[in-house]
Amino acid sequence: MNAVKIKKDIYWVGVKDPNLEVFDIVIPTEHGTTYNSYLVIGKEKKALIEANKMIFADDYVNTINEICPIKEIDYIILNHNEPDHSGALPKILEINPDIEVIYSKTGKNFVQNIVNKEFNGRAVGDTDIIDLGGKTLRFFHTPFLHWPDTMFTYLVEDEILFPCDFLGAHYCPSKGIFNDEIEEKEDIREAFKFYYFSIMRPYKEHILNAFKKIETINIKMVCPSHGPILRENIDFYIDFYKKQANRYYLNNPDRQITVVYATAYGNTKMLAEQIKKGAEETGLIVKMFDAAEANVSDIIDEIELSHGLVMGTATINAKAPKPIFNIFAQLVALNVSNRKAGAFGSYGWSGEGVKMCEDILKTMRMKLPLESLRVQMTPSNDELKKAYDWGREFALSVLEGN
Ligand code: FEO
Repeated sequence: MNAVKIKKDIYWVGVKDPNLEVFDIVIPTEHGTTYNSYLVIGKEKKALIEANKMIFADDYVNTINEICPIKEIDYIILNHNEPDHSGALPKILEINPDIEVIYSKTGKNFVQNIVNKEFNGRAVGDTDIIDLGGKTLRFFHTPFLHWPDTMFTYLVEDEILFPCDFLGAHYCPSKGIFNDEIEEKEDIREAFKFYYFSIMRPYKEHILNAFKKIETINIKMVCPSHGPILRENIDFYIDFYKKQANRYYLNNPDRQITVVYATAYGNTKMLAEQIKKGAEETGLIVKMFDAAEANVSDIIDEIELSHGLVMGTATINAKAPKPIFNIFAQLVALNVSNRKAGAFGSYGWSGEGVKMCEDILKTMRMKLPLESLRVQMTPSNDELKKAYDWGREFALSVLEGN
């Protein structure tokens, strides 16, 4: 028996994946993960909440069948359609072609492209409910947590929130499924925080909007799509999200920029120091890091609070070097679009690194108010003065918001 009774007529029917080492190509999963799915049985109708990963479709189907034959299920609610939540949908439809697939308005397109044939489906929004008979499902469209299709489902009578990836964790309990059953409390909290930083961090405004949307409901239990069901200390987890979501450049009372540079012989560093001085003259706060030496997460923490980002780089073999790409790779954890950015650097004989930075910053939809600053070899006094002025102008552009 794999299914777990959560409350009367509500079951966890998910799959545990304790040996998973990396999720979605890039996220290490030290404690494995779970793909949670839930079965809610009303007096008249039955609903599944979330499907599962395709490779686990057989396990998933067997677990559901422990409680009720899939042919008897009326609805499958897809809060989100990334394949770890929807991959097993075709298998469910093969067994029960009449099941009604429920998704958000933005979810429809994803579902159609997963199923690739006719099916019985319906989009729901904030004003819709599904009455199962003594169990009422309400929906909250909460886009970009972390896909545009995301919605929360709320079981009104039992005050249970099913928020999909939101408030989840990549943590596979060795026994049980509730957070209060797990002895390694600190491990769960760390996995929860790491999950937030890996997946939810870029979506701060959407997180705060979602909390606003659900502020009037009472939550006795949180049933996410990954990791333990939260039955104790729910406030700790919600407060962590709120606190982190408020850690945002638009909430920073100071105007701040971050300057990051990678320097081979100290020339790019000389430019960085002048840019910093010029920017500081305007009253702006400047955080500066050597990309090869500083801790990448410290840099990302400051960029999170910065209104502008300036990247300086040497050029090695016609490219920016690895420490610069390490920063760009970690920027996947933030939404930096519309913030100010700039690129600079000293080079030996070709200097493509600066252009490379510039192109990446533009691709991230940052706004570059100034032409990039490039200097060959050792900056002259005039060039150092140019860097100072460049920093000052960049800072003024940040302060004026133009
Ligand atoms: Fe759990 Fe967004 O997938």
